[in-house]
Amino acid sequence: SNQPMIAPSILSADFARLADEINAVGGEPGKRADWLHVDVMDAHFVPNLTLGLPVVESILKSTEIPVDCHLMIDDPDRWAVGYAEAGAYNVTVHAEAANDPIAVAKDLRAAGAKAGLSIKPNTSLDDYLEVLKHYDTLLVMSVEPGFGGQKFMSEVLHKARKARELVDTGHLKLLVEIDGGINADTIEQAAESGVDCFVAGSAVYNADDPVAAVQALREQATP
Ligand code: DX5
Ligand code: ZN
Repeated sequence: SNQPMIAPSILSADFARLADEINAVGGEPGKRADWLHVDVMDAHFVPNLTLGLPVVESILKSTEIPVDCHLMIDDPDRWAVGYAEAGAYNVTVHAEAANDPIAVAKDLRAAGAKAGLSIKPNTSLDDYLEVLKHYDTLLVMSVEPGFGGQKFMSEVLHKARKARELVDTGHLKLLVEIDGGINADTIEQAAESGVDCFVAGSAVYNADDPVAAVQALREQATP
């Protein structure tokens, strides 16, 4: 893995002041957030409801930071491509929700986005190794998806380690991303497991200085 990437999740931001909250992690490339992580929830795949395509379209107009859409929704086969067409940089769907994950990846790439596949804490990586040949990003969930501010589950790290090994040995070509409970106490163990990109919601947006929190996390994740 190269320079660690930090992707603040706006789930912990103030949605009434979204543009300001996005600007709070902006700035020069290298100092700002690497990706802006946007959690789309449908109250079906997860027991929470956030925002959808119209809000993502507005976010895309208000920032130069590449947008990372994490779709915690049923039937991503139908909805995911719209986020790619809108201009999201990376669009991640859940392995547990996709009916035909290989077709979804092809649609996302054809629309010009990176294709991401996410697995929940109890979902096996081994079941998706063939599917992952079609993907650019693997998002390992280190909490049950649905809410910010939950406790990090270190028991998922073996999946990040295995993915790292498969990438380093040339069997897969993936960016390894982790999401859930990443903060100053947990990011080092995730980094040691070979994660490339770290999502952090509450650790960034509950900080007094969000961009300083991004930089501190990046520093901690750097070997
Ligand atoms: C949870 C979301 C996460 C969430 C992370 O389902 O996918 O992106 O915002 O929040 P923290 O970093 O507070 O665990
Ligand atoms: Zn997320």
